[in-house]
Amino acid sequence: MGLIAEWWEAHAVPRLIRCACGAPAISGLREKVVPLAHGAVFELGCGGGLNQRFYGADVASYAGLDPSAKGLDFARGEAAAHGWPVDLREGAGEAVPFADAMFDSVVCTFTLCSVADPAQVLAELYRVLKPGGALLFAEHGLAPDAGVRRWQQRVEPVWKRLAGGCHLTRPPRALIAEAGFALGETGARYLPKTPRIAGWAEWGLAQKPG
Ligand SMILES: C[S@@+](CC[C@H](N)C(=O)[O-])C[C@H]1O[C@@H](n2cnc3c(N)ncnc32)[C@H](O)[C@@H]1O
Repeated sequence: MGLIAEWWEAHAVPRLIRCACGAPAISGLREKVVPLAHGAVFELGCGGGLNQRFYGADVASYAGLDPSAKGLDFARGEAAAHGWPVDLREGAGEAVPFADAMFDSVVCTFTLCSVADPAQVLAELYRVLKPGGALLFAEHGLAPDAGVRRWQQRVEPVWKRLAGGCHLTRPPRALIAEAGFALGETGARYLPKTPRIAGWAEWGLAQKPG
């Protein structure tokens, strides 16, 4: 990676993400899923810290993982205000550094699009959840309309280079179900005021069978 690309990834992308992912339409989806987390909570892709204000009083401890040092700085700044026992680590979801069945709730928002290997990441999320525990997710992905999909496929190669590895064509609920989770209440729609190629969102709760 050249110097400019390194600077872009390390400094510009975390700031862009914090800005873009703070949009009201996206906050509306966070509000639907994040408050359902309880007990020992693990958040994958916790960089930026934008979910933290949506957690409720039922959170007993908060662990998180993200490969972005800058993103983790933002998350640590936010976490200091909550008074939870906090364990935020730098690393990738393909190898989560926590033991099996440690968490009551796992939260993953707008992160499956960016990981290198979504199937491996979901296997890791399944592993660290207690049986009966819930994966709470909100993600963007592959649109249902053929015309939008064609544009997603065309734009994705450039998009992912500029946007921290973000893919436009992953189907979140299908990937989650393929990983063995039981989909519970979920929703999907195009986000308002968002280009359709990046605006198809899927969210909800998926349970690790108990
Ligand atoms: C679009 S941002 C979303 C951040 C946050 N989850 C939110 O909802 O605002 C994508 C996040 O995924 C993180 N990420 C990228 N690759 C990852 C991986 N392999 N494992 C875990 N997180 C990853 C990025 O560092 C970034 O913080």
